[in-house]
Amino acid sequence: MDAMFDFDLDYGISRTRVTVRLNALDDGGRILREVSAKTDDPLADPAAGTDTRLAEVEAKCDGRVTVVVTDDRVGDLYGSRLVGSLKGAGFSVEEYRIRPGEASKSLAVAEDIYRFLAAKNVGRDGCILALGGGVVSDLAGFVAATWMRGVDFGVFPTTLEADVDASIGGKTAVNTSAAKNLVGVFHQPRFVAIDPGCLTTLEARDVRAGLAESVKHALISSEELLRFHEANVDAILALDASVARELILRNLRVKGDIIEADTLEQRDKRILLNFGHTIGHAIESGVGYTLRHGECVALGMVAACRLSVTMGLLDHSVVERMTALLVRLGLPTQLEERIDTDTLLATIRNDKKRRDGRLRFVLLEAVGRPVVRDDVGESPVRSAFESLVGLNAS
Ligand SMILES: NC(=O)c1ccc[n+]([C@@H]2O[C@H](COP(=O)([O-])OP(=O)(O)OC[C@H]3O[C@@H](n4cnc5c(N)ncnc54)[C@H](O)[C@@H]3O)[C@@H](O)[C@H]2O)c1
Ligand SMILES: [Zn+2]
Repeated sequence: MDAMFDFDLDYGISRTRVTVRLNALDDGGRILREVSAKTDDPLADPAAGTDTRLAEVEAKCDGRVTVVVTDDRVGDLYGSRLVGSLKGAGFSVEEYRIRPGEASKSLAVAEDIYRFLAAKNVGRDGCILALGGGVVSDLAGFVAATWMRGVDFGVFPTTLEADVDASIGGKTAVNTSAAKNLVGVFHQPRFVAIDPGCLTTLEARDVRAGLAESVKHALISSEELLRFHEANVDAILALDASVARELILRNLRVKGDIIEADTLEQRDKRILLNFGHTIGHAIESGVGYTLRHGECVALGMVAACRLSVTMGLLDHSVVERMTALLVRLGLPTQLEERIDTDTLLATIRNDKKRRDGRLRFVLLEAVGRPVVRDDVGESPVRSAFESLVGLNAS
């Protein structure tokens, strides 16, 4: 079953790839084998190497329809190479493009894709491949999970956000007017093939936004990963090839370990990945998705750290240290846009992490020591959020 995706495709611009293979789930929904991250050596003879591998799978595709879902921007950059490569391998390939941006992560766009799948006769043996950032992989994954109760899914992430976070873990989602990511389902991709070379065409703002999730992984996992960021700010921002690759691998290890321990978010482990996201998501929808997801996560992390200090859990020096790093990485630590605090709190009350009517927050006791608390009152949340705006006014 896994063999189908066990090859490299020529879709990017570099030959340095990280391939993460996620295998089938067992009855309990756990990943059967390890989430593994491995680096492939650059191919000595790219053309020959690729051709040989593609030839090997040719016999296995049997007219099964593969639909590449991408957005207009990524499609222009990498779509034809991926589609060409798949067609060359004998796949029957269709391409569906969405408009770039968070607004496309909706049920309406999912339905457009369902109509396309129906028109192209994509059956239960169909396969959906996401080529793009987190918006494309969340949406395409949702469609793959629901089309005919689930078809195979694979991801070619093209943003840093997706390389370090969104592409792995199997969470798919669409937004509703009530809140972000409110509708979704777990659906593990059969493979994730990361080409860090794609990052070179990314806008600087999107590179920075992706780094927020990387800082998040550091804060919830290890002092050492935080120091890696602090020591390599310039190389990271310049997307130095070896540093970017190292950064992605380290992130995959952190997220991979958590997903392995709690694939379906039942053990209070995976929730840790939501650090900075409760307030972050509320800000994101509060500003009508005009800020990048990562930018809102940066703001949400500042608020969550301040909340941790207010709760007597965290030393204030950690807030200063994290804020300094975010500033160096070009991420926001103050909210320029206006959001009414009551509206924000109303959105937070809708948070998916709520249990027995109580909100649950991921807070920090120290770098690498996250803790889940359900006893956070509304008033400290209000002040933590308002501090993001208050700083701005001072
Ligand atoms: N499922 C998860 O576990 C998970 C985790 C983190 C984030 N997310 C979701 O991911 C989304 C954010 O993802 P994102 O930041 O990747 O946003 P995105 O997919 O909107 O991509 C950002 C922009 O970059 C462009 N782009 C993508 N790749 C490019 C490339 N290589 N070169 C040039 N331009 C390129 C896109 O067209 C888009 O305009 C949010 O919806 C968030 O909720 C999901
Ligand atoms: Zn996120």
